[in-house]
Formats: sequence, C-alpha cells, structure tokens
Amino acid sequence: MSISYDENERIFKLDTKNSTYAIGVVDEEGFLAHIYYGDRLREGQVGSLLRTDEPPFVPSVNDRDRVSFLDSCPMEYPGHGLGDYRESCISVRTGNGSSAVGLQYVSHKITAGKTSFRDLPSSFGAEGECGVLEITCEDRAAGLTVALQYGVFDDTDVITRSVRVCNTGKDAVWLTKVYSACLDMDDQGFEAISLHGSWARERQMQRVPVSHAKLNVESVRGESGHQDHPFMALVTPGTNQETGRVYAMHFVYSGNFRVQVQSDQFDQVRMVMGIHPEDFCWKLLPGESFQSPEAVMVYSGTGLSGMTHTFHDFYRKHLIRSPYRDRKRPVLINNWEATYFDFNTEKLIEIARQAAALGIEMLVMDDGWFGNRFDDNRALGDWFVNEEKLPGGLAYLADQVNGLGMKFGIWFEPEMISPDSELYRAHPDWAIAIPGRRASLCRNQYVLDLSRPEVRDYAYEAVASVLRSANIAYVKWDMNRQLSDLGSAALPADRMGELYHRYVLGVYEMQERLLREFPDLLLENCSGGGARFDPGMLYYSPQIWCSDDTDAIERLKIQEGTAMIYPLSTMGAHVSACPNHIVGRVTPFETRGHVALMGTFGYELDVTALSEEEKQMIPQQVAMYHKYNDLIREGDYYRVASYAENHAFDCCGVVGKDRTEALYLYVQVLGRPNCRSRRIRFPGLAEDRQYRLEGEERIYAGELLVKAGMNIQDLHGDFQSRLLHFTAV
Ligand code: DGJ
Repeated sequence: MSISYDENERIFKLDTKNSTYAIGVVDEEGFLAHIYYGDRLREGQVGSLLRTDEPPFVPSVNDRDRVSFLDSCPMEYPGHGLGDYRESCISVRTGNGSSAVGLQYVSHKITAGKTSFRDLPSSFGAEGECGVLEITCEDRAAGLTVALQYGVFDDTDVITRSVRVCNTGKDAVWLTKVYSACLDMDDQGFEAISLHGSWARERQMQRVPVSHAKLNVESVRGESGHQDHPFMALVTPGTNQETGRVYAMHFVYSGNFRVQVQSDQFDQVRMVMGIHPEDFCWKLLPGESFQSPEAVMVYSGTGLSGMTHTFHDFYRKHLIRSPYRDRKRPVLINNWEATYFDFNTEKLIEIARQAAALGIEMLVMDDGWFGNRFDDNRALGDWFVNEEKLPGGLAYLADQVNGLGMKFGIWFEPEMISPDSELYRAHPDWAIAIPGRRASLCRNQYVLDLSRPEVRDYAYEAVASVLRSANIAYVKWDMNRQLSDLGSAALPADRMGELYHRYVLGVYEMQERLLREFPDLLLENCSGGGARFDPGMLYYSPQIWCSDDTDAIERLKIQEGTAMIYPLSTMGAHVSACPNHIVGRVTPFETRGHVALMGTFGYELDVTALSEEEKQMIPQQVAMYHKYNDLIREGDYYRVASYAENHAFDCCGVVGKDRTEALYLYVQVLGRPNCRSRRIRFPGLAEDRQYRLEGEERIYAGELLVKAGMNIQDLHGDFQSRLLHFTAV
C-alpha cells in the first residue's frame, strides 16, 4: 500500500511510482499542514521539513500570535475567516450569520482500490493500482465535518483530491465555497501554464510568471467554456518538454470552476482548484453531505512531457469507461459543413453512397433533422423527425445507410429549448430564467432547467425514444450556448445558488442514463466546438469535438494545447473542405488528413462535390487511419516543435509503449526561399535500438535520432506535411 501513517510523527506519506506527497498533523489542535510534494522520497524524515519550531510557532506554544501561525503555515485545506488571509478553500453561512470555518484532524481511513462517486464523474481503479486516504476533520462551532479525500494511483503518478462536507449540527448551513484541492509550497520561481481561447480558437497555451497578485483561470459560464480551461501547471524556470519540475491540476468537472495561484508575503505559493464560488450557495440540512468534484494532481520531475504522459495514461486507464476507449472508432462523415441545414434523405443517402464506396464507415446526420428546424432560430426541444426533410423517418434513413455497409449516427442538443418550439409553448417555465426579468437569448435559444427531474425526464426520453426507433450507433451531444440568467421556477429562493451545480449534475445524470440504456453507443460530446472539452465529459464519452475550426493550420495550435493533457484518442478531428469555412484558408488534402489523423479522424465535407483527385485520396487516408490508429490511441505522445511558438513549423509524434514503432507528423507551415533542411530530433525512441524509416532502406540508430535527429528537407510550398514512421529492426 502506498499510503502510510506514522503514528509517532503524525505524518501521512502518499507515494506513487515517482512522487511523494506528505501531510502532517500539527499542534495539539490538529491543524493539517502540507509538508512536501515532489520527487519520490524513499528514505528520511519528512517531519524535519515542518517549520513548527520557527516563529511564529504553533498556537499551543504561542497562542498570542495565532493569526501569524494561521497566515503562514502551509495548510492542507485552509479554512476561512480565522486568520489565514490567503485564499480559503471553504466558507459557509450559518444560522448566526458567521462565515468562518476552521478544521482540525479527527481521524482517518485508508482503503485499497477506488470507486467513482455516485453522481459525479471521477476516477476509479482496482486494488493493487490505487488506494484512498480519507482524513476526517471537524469544525464543531460550524457543525461541520470535512473529509479530505486522496486517491493515490501508484501506477500512474497521480493523486486525486476532493472533499465531502457533512452537516453534523442541528441547523441548516449554507456552503458558499467548497474547493476541491489546495497546494501550498515554497515558490520555486514558478511560472504558470494555462489554456485560454474563444470559439474556434480553443485551448491556446499561455505561460506567465507567478506573482504576488492572484492569477485566476476561471469560468462562470455554467460550463467549462471556450475561454478558459480547468487546468493549471506550475513549472520551475526553464522547464521544457524534457526537464523541469511540474505541478499540475486538472478538474474533473464541466461547470463553473476556478483555479488560482498566488505567492504570499513569505514567497510561498498557494494553488487552489474547485467550483467557482460566484453564484454558488448550497443549503445543507442536518445530516446531509456535499461531495465536491475531483481534481487530478500530477507531479513530474521530467518536464512537460512527463506530465503529459501521466495525464494520458491516467485518463485512458482510470477515467474513460467507454467500450470504445481501446477500440478503433468508425471513420465517420458528418454532414454539418457539407450541407448545414439544407439536406434531405436523398442528399444524405447520396453522401453515404459515395462515402461508403471510398471506405468511410459511418454517416453522422448533424443539426436540422427534427421539428421545424430549417435554421438555427427554432425547434430545439421538438425531438421528432422533420418528415418534410426525411420522408420515411429515421428508421428508413438508418436502414438505407446500414444497407450500404455503414453505421448511422445522429446529432442532438438535449439541454436546450428554442422560444419558437412546441416545447416552449407548452412549458415556458422550463427555461432557465429569473422570474420577472426577460432572459437573454444566445443563438436564439434558452437553456433547459435540468435541475428539475421532470425536465430531465422529458429531455432524456426525447433522446432515448429516437435511439430506440432506429439502428443508431453514435450520438453527437451538442450544447451551443452558455448559461446566464440564474433562475429556476422550481427552486426556492434559498436554494437558487444551487442551480449551476444542479444543472451540471443533471447533465451527468442524463448521460449516465443514456450509457446504461445504450451501452454500445459511441457518444461524442460537443459544445459549440470545444467549449465543454473537460475530464468530466470524458467519463461519459471517449471523444469530444475539439473545435468548430477544422482548418488544418489552426488545428495545430488547438490540438497542441489539447494534447498537452488529453490522449489523442479523445480529440474529435475531421478533414473538411477548402477554402476552410472559418478562416478561408486552402490547405492540401493530404495535410488535412495528416492533422486529423492525430485525433479521432473523420470527414466533414460534401464528398459528392470533391474533385476526383481528392476522392482518390480518401481510401488511402482511411487505410492510413487503420494502419496507425492503434499506435496513436495507445502510444506515448511527444511534442517536438510548436508552430504556436515558432510560427514556422510543427512536429509531434507518438511512440509505442514498447518503443518498437513510432509515428511523427511534421508540418511545414510556410514555405521558405533559399533554405537548408531542418534538423528535427525524435524524442521517445529507444536509444539502444535501430530503426527503419518507412519508405527508405537506410537503418538509423535510435541514439542518433533521439540525440542528434534527422535533416528534413524543405517540402516546397505552404502547409505541406510529412509523416515519418519508424519501426525497430
Ligand atoms: C456546433 C457544433 O460544434 C457543430 O459541429 C455543429 O454540430 C453545430 N453546433 C450544429 O448546430
């Protein structure tokens, strides 16, 4: 077991393969102090790292300066309002109007293996792979116990963090803040890496110094969002792919979040992660508990690539549950960019017929097949087939597509309601809105109040009855606006602050139900592109649509930021038509194929309108997908060069776990006049092996490729790409 408690020293030690995390119970009062997180310690007394023998000393020695102690001790889970002026992790409103929380150790429990939470997406693992430490703390004055939960994954170098708060008092308590994790450490000159973006520009990397001002990465949009990502990594100066210390947190949650870092007056940093406290207020009756979502914490002493490998392995092994996780996904063709709303059965069958002949394996019918949905102004909520577009209904269409040897998939946006819909006319109070205030529209739609069980039941049944009516293998679950106008017709005033979180729980409940009833369904989550690309959604769908921007060059940046944390098998990526609909750029069909290959791979274009030359490339690309997908899905990902940083070229690769095979993608973004070759190194290959590069007879020493690299000749032209496939000989 990799979790131990030293009774004499009162120290918890959590060990993974390469990291150690230590917590101490200090003073008679039982404060929980953070001691150490970093490279694995096999020996030595970590207790010597506690600064309890330095002024201001612990309160039992120096109670006159209790505040000084609370404000300087590295806390494991800091309370609120009692003298620690740094960011708190928990605050409340009690019957007497107090907001304070102060936590003291009571007991602990260590168990083998880990199960997921009941209502929230979260990691899991078998005995022998992981264990759980639960430290129970209490605040008698507030009438609360707080269980600090640590999942310790020996096999993947991950520690998960969460808390469960229980009202043990006699009166109701309102939780106004409950973060999931805190990490207090000495500042090592840290820089913070985070991901920001917008629609069609998701997950761009940012790296800034950590300072004495608070740095918040956050969403108050009701979903994780295009603009910010629930992730932060603190890195030591000079950290690159291969070297440096990295402390990262990633949130398994799809709603409002905050991740924050700040250096304090003593140059200690505090990093916290949790549900955003704005508009959050959860009423807890006596005996009730609140479970916080899970934060995934990773330490890498081997730079960013060590962090990336840990996240990839962890999500593949301990978070994604879909039967498709370890399988090739059918190569799909989606009609969105091909037709938008202008399609009918005949058009779709023609696309399917030509696509099937080229080797494409599934047709996905996107937005526009239901109700009065001739454009994006109406009909969300009316989940019955538009017979004008689809005479004969879905079963007929699905049968025709199946008859061509293809699977059939369909688009839904179950969380929404259009003002112009039969559903809204029947249930205007089902939209999220503040009573007495006109709710704001976005894409001419409102959000359904999924905190209400009857609304969830309707929305679920609407989707499920369609799925029961035809042979449907895949669902794209979309969500095209963010939440606003926090109000529910069903929640009492003193529970309105629960709406955002209850909404997210409602989405999770619906997706869980869907997967239980249709266990073989391939679910792809989506939110106006990649606005809800987060670990919470990965628990339900093994892939998520990465971005509405399908331009191969823009995708280099989006996929680089995404792949820093997420396995390539989760990144929805398609070859689309040119000029690209978002940026108007024209890129070679081959390059579009190569870039999409580094994700799930599929098509999103009108195959009937392609040139013969382009059509002929599709069977080759499908074959390429089948040849390399096992490696791409299961291997270790390496970032070699970043177009986002160098503005000239890009290179990433995947190396098989046994190092016998590797595939790198090199993209020359702009052609250059009068230039020499570029020397590219290939990290991840085994230095003691020899490799053959596909298409060449020559054998290369692994050591040469890793340490010195290869000269890649100019590819002549803009947006050119080359795949380099190495096999060990
Ligand atoms: C946003 C998605 O990202 C697109 O792929 C498409 O499904 C549209 N919504 C449909 O409205």
